[in-house]
Amino acid sequence: MQRALTVLAVACLLAGTAVSKRPKWHQLEGYTFERYVADFGRQYSSTEEYLQRQTIFYTKLKSMQAHNADGTKTWKRGVNMFTDMTPEEWKAYNKAYKSPNRAPPSSVHVAADQANGVPFPLEVDYRTWTSPRVLTDVKHQGSCGSCWAHSATESFESYYALSTGMLPVLSVQQLTSCTPYGTAGCDGGDAVLAFMYINSTFYGQTEEWAYPYSDFFYPERNPNATTSVCKNVTDLFPNKTPYNWFADLNRIGCNGYGAVTPNSATSTKSALATIGPLSISVAAGNWQDYESGVLQNTAANGQTNEWSIDHDVQMVGYGHDAVLGLDYWIVRNSWSTLWGEQGFIRLDRPAVEPCSPDGTTCGTSGCLNGPHYPFVKENPPQPF
Ligand SMILES: *[C@@H]1O[C@H](CO)[C@@H](O)[C@H](O)[C@H]1NC(C)=O
Ligand SMILES: *[C@@H]1O[C@H](CO)[C@@H](O)[C@H](O)[C@H]1NC(C)=O
Ligand SMILES: *[C@@H]1O[C@H](CO)[C@@H](O)[C@H](O)[C@H]1NC(C)=O
Repeated sequence: MQRALTVLAVACLLAGTAVSKRPKWHQLEGYTFERYVADFGRQYSSTEEYLQRQTIFYTKLKSMQAHNADGTKTWKRGVNMFTDMTPEEWKAYNKAYKSPNRAPPSSVHVAADQANGVPFPLEVDYRTWTSPRVLTDVKHQGSCGSCWAHSATESFESYYALSTGMLPVLSVQQLTSCTPYGTAGCDGGDAVLAFMYINSTFYGQTEEWAYPYSDFFYPERNPNATTSVCKNVTDLFPNKTPYNWFADLNRIGCNGYGAVTPNSATSTKSALATIGPLSISVAAGNWQDYESGVLQNTAANGQTNEWSIDHDVQMVGYGHDAVLGLDYWIVRNSWSTLWGEQGFIRLDRPAVEPCSPDGTTCGTSGCLNGPHYPFVKENPPQPF
């Protein structure tokens, strides 16, 4: 997501206390651009750019501090690796769209208020699952618009874990580089097209270690291509007898996909409670400096809201915040653990879900507009 990123040393552990140099929302009093540049390892091409970034930074900082001081706000905004970007620059990296090339789903999940009279659990949180674990660690897509490939990969991982108890880390790069049907790699795509791609192959999705993520610095790496060339994994290991080690790889296949009734909080809640985590599309235009709390649609306060769907993520549960007195959806993002609540965001889940003026997109950030999930199957080991 960011332009010139320098990886900094991780905070050191001293006597069991983790100390991060990066300030939280309540530590922004007196925070300066000079410190931001150091804390976030920023590098600019010229003095002119430095001054432009400085202006952006202080404008944002002021608006964040005003937001955080407003007791009616239910979430906090903070500085992060996106703080020196213009909204336009940042939005250019949110690249999900709903493709007209989608095959129809194999099934559509509909739910009554309660399943056969049994109420849904009050809370579902796949982050807490341990046997089996169903979520891999939060990833970082970098400056590549591969959110859709991350979302699809997270779904394949979760459903494979739910059906086999094993949680391999799967290759996001394979989906980013190899999905056809008009996807454009780092220039955007649709998680459903990635389901269709895996569905169409005999080899399935391979693991991250065999086909690692390499598009982090797109587009700096190759301004002429939307993603790196789709690789035959066999070719990455020349002069090796494929079956000797391919037998050790998990191969995750797909046999159709399921959809959840769009814009239905009840169906989404019951799908989370009875099926599993969901790949969802959202309008993430106001997520840039989310740090913690329950994000509310500004439309609920009578202001203009952001309804244009531009990002794919994974919904991993729902719950209730007793302090704020708000129900929420739990959503996993692919902007690293530096962003939000360890890489996650909670979205307001009011009794009556907000909808766009044309009624096509509902839920905070439009999160209910189209949840879906793959039907995974285990493929036999074979070369790819
Ligand atoms: C990108 O395209 C331009 C114009 O066609 C060309 O000059 C340049 O060498 C290309 N760069 C790469 C990395 O392929
Ligand atoms: C998935 O593959 C099966 C078996 O080849 C096929 O019948 C089905 O239409 C495919 N579904 C999608 C969504 O591509
Ligand atoms: C990759 O290469 C191997 C060995 O040459 C071949 O058997 C396999 O079909 C290739 N995979 C694809 C997807 O083309």
